[in-house]
Amino acid sequence: MSSEEGLSSTITDWLFLNSWWLLLPFVMLLVVAAFIVAFVLLLYMISPLISPKPLKLNGAHVVVTGGSSGIGKCIAIECYRQGAFITLVARDEAKLLQAKKELEKFAINDKQVVLCISVDISSEYSQVESVIKQAQEKLGPVDMLVNCAGMAVSGRFEEMEVDRFKKLMEVNYLGSVYPTRAVITTMKERRMGRIMFVSSQAGQIGLFGYTAYSPSKFALRGLAESLQMEIKPYNIYVTLAFPPDTDTPGLAEENKNKPLETKLISETSGVCQPDQVAKIIVRDAVIVTMGLFRTIALFYLGSFDSIVRRCMIQREQSKAANKRE
Ligand SMILES: NC(=O)c1ccc[n+]([C@@H]2O[C@H](COP(=O)([O-])OP(=O)(O)OC[C@H]3O[C@@H](n4cnc5c(N)ncnc54)[C@H](OP(=O)(O)O)[C@@H]3O)[C@@H](O)[C@H]2O)c1
Repeated sequence: MSSEEGLSSTITDWLFLNSWWLLLPFVMLLVVAAFIVAFVLLLYMISPLISPKPLKLNGAHVVVTGGSSGIGKCIAIECYRQGAFITLVARDEAKLLQAKKELEKFAINDKQVVLCISVDISSEYSQVESVIKQAQEKLGPVDMLVNCAGMAVSGRFEEMEVDRFKKLMEVNYLGSVYPTRAVITTMKERRMGRIMFVSSQAGQIGLFGYTAYSPSKFALRGLAESLQMEIKPYNIYVTLAFPPDTDTPGLAEENKNKPLETKLISETSGVCQPDQVAKIIVRDAVIVTMGLFRTIALFYLGSFDSIVRRCMIQREQSKAANKRE
């Protein structure tokens, strides 16, 4: 080896030995990232252990708004074939009776009943309250409420009739608030229940053409999350579904006036079948587990939940004390 080669190899060795610490931040970053991933996975894995007991649909009373057509009808069939008693809620009586006939083919025992109620869930709260009361008198307290009635309208923002914005909020948002409000007191008294909201993928991301529809479905998320915090101490669980495009009469109607851009965006993903979508929605409502992002938020949600639980206990203790006086 020449003296020049010897010198350069000595310099390389010296650099290697003295600059390893330059890699230290990257190594530390990798270790922290691996720790976070492992921690989140662990939380996700233990979330079923802290989830509520699955709801038994056999013998349960399930109310499905929008149960006369599309996804709602398939949800009703899925619950009925598992032994539930069903109340179908929609406006058109003929469609309701037709759906009832379809459901009855899936009976698993001769006690099961399908009740039809015709009401506009978006008009007057008092009307919705009164029909839910009738349903509870006939089939017992509601164990699960599925808020599926809804409609989609697409169009360019400035071309959309102004009253469409109001209509969609009334049907898709208030039409879920009213039935939920009408069942919640009994559910709280019984300390059990499931409430399901059917949003949409357009309720997760705003898309071209959905300036009226998307906000009405985004609103359901705010409702679902706030309500869940309020009613969890009463053992009532809320689920929120975000179905993709699904082959239903509702979608066929919406497609008639879809802007080209909305159509092309929709075509980038396929169209699902309503029975498949319904199966997933029912399974998620029966076996409630926590989504990954809510798992990450477990710590602060846990501390908020404990505040709510503490207040509930205090309120009940003071109520009991007032009664004794
Ligand atoms: N299909 C899709 O691609 C898709 C995708 C994502 C989310 N969704 C959501 O899934 C739900 C069901 O959609 P779908 O496509 O199955 O619709 P659909 O076939 O048109 O069925 C809608 C149901 O809601 C009822 N309804 C509508 N307005 C009502 C009102 N004011 N009061 C009472 N009932 C009312 C309808 O009955 P009457 O007309 O007789 O009242 C019908 O039973 C909707 O909330 C929709 O936004 C659908």
